Amino acid sequence: MHCRVCGVEARKVNDFGQMPIANSFIRLIQEDVFRFQLSTSFCEDCALFQIDEQPNAELMFHDAYPFFTGLSMEMTRHFKDLVQSHAESLNREIDPFVVEIGSNDGTLLQFVRELGIRHLGIDPSSNVVAIANSKGISSEVGFFGEKTAVEIEKRFGEADLILAANVICHIPDIIDLAAGVKKLLGPNGQFVFEEPYVGDIIAKTSYDQIYDEHVYLFGATSVRNIFRRVGLELIDAIPQFTHGGSMRYVIMHVGARSQSLRLNRILRDEEVAGLSQTNTYLEFAARCELRRSELRSLLQQLKTAGARVAGYAATSKSTTILNYCGINSDLIEYIVDSTPEKQMRLTPGSHIRITDVEELRKVPPDYLVLFAWNHEKEILQKEIEITQMGVKWIRFVPNVEIIS
Ligand code: TMP
Ligand code: ZN
Repeated sequence: MHCRVCGVEARKVNDFGQMPIANSFIRLIQEDVFRFQLSTSFCEDCALFQIDEQPNAELMFHDAYPFFTGLSMEMTRHFKDLVQSHAESLNREIDPFVVEIGSNDGTLLQFVRELGIRHLGIDPSSNVVAIANSKGISSEVGFFGEKTAVEIEKRFGEADLILAANVICHIPDIIDLAAGVKKLLGPNGQFVFEEPYVGDIIAKTSYDQIYDEHVYLFGATSVRNIFRRVGLELIDAIPQFTHGGSMRYVIMHVGARSQSLRLNRILRDEEVAGLSQTNTYLEFAARCELRRSELRSLLQQLKTAGARVAGYAATSKSTTILNYCGINSDLIEYIVDSTPEKQMRLTPGSHIRITDVEELRKVPPDYLVLFAWNHEKEILQKEIEITQMGVKWIRFVPNVEIIS
């Protein structure tokens, strides 16, 4: 494929095979027809790791999008901190304006609203926008790009702060997005966004971060290269613990501020880790295949030994694991998840039944595969009773192992 940003031929890295949409939890097996080829490439020119083919945005982000940020206590706390760090210091005398791209159910913007700051959320899924509006958070349905940015600027004026979390990597036309940010951002405004970090994905072999929604797996080097194309400059990068390792990027107009020491260090670390070299990604691909065979053989051994295995959390990430590793209801009996919209449904492609967490107490399994490995601490604390009943947990990131 050609790099979406610089157009040069990118080097093929992973081939995960045919995949359904990660979040397309289905009611009946017959519903599960859509498939696309999930593979990745790396562009050495701009250091950008990306998926080759992304299904139509309307297939992923629609009026039944089953992800609600507010369901996670940890993410809610995290966004409160983000607003404290980046919005609280805005000068109220200028009547500042904050825009959030991909505002979901308003979990982040509610903290901006509490500060009495003018704000607008924009998100393509009408169901989550309705939830945000019902909480008094101004939100509108739409995809953010240059055209939308110009309209927002006309109606509300320039933005002093544009925020986005776990959404910029969903947008294939990243140059159109960057051009929109450039138009909407005031002269001293900041664009602050965070995404799963490619450095962590490579270091932990967390290949489950690769699915339809994540068209880009960003690092500081690639983000700097992308935004420079439209006259914006990366001035800071701040590592985050969320989503198994994320990075927060701070972007301003070129010349507005110089690059932080922390960013200099991160850019150097990325060079040392080989994140600008194709070989690093090819080695990663080889580790993905190894982890696949390790997980499959562990589950097969457990089945042969007559053990009952269930899963914890029907995450979007689990779709890549289940389909790439060829795991279905023969190997995993059911998966529990706290999201009502996912319960009584089947996992896409692998057709494993999703149910309420109470099932763990009714029909205790011998083993539980922790699909929400990024929430390991929170979940193991919450489910201590299950562990005390003798249920053993399995993790597959960074290694396939039984958690002791
Ligand atoms: P995420 O990894 O993208 O945040 O997705 C989290 C999924 O895991 C979501 O479907 C909710 C589910 N989940 C639980 O079922 N129980 C939990 O304790 C946590 C933290 C998440
Ligand atoms: Zn490129």
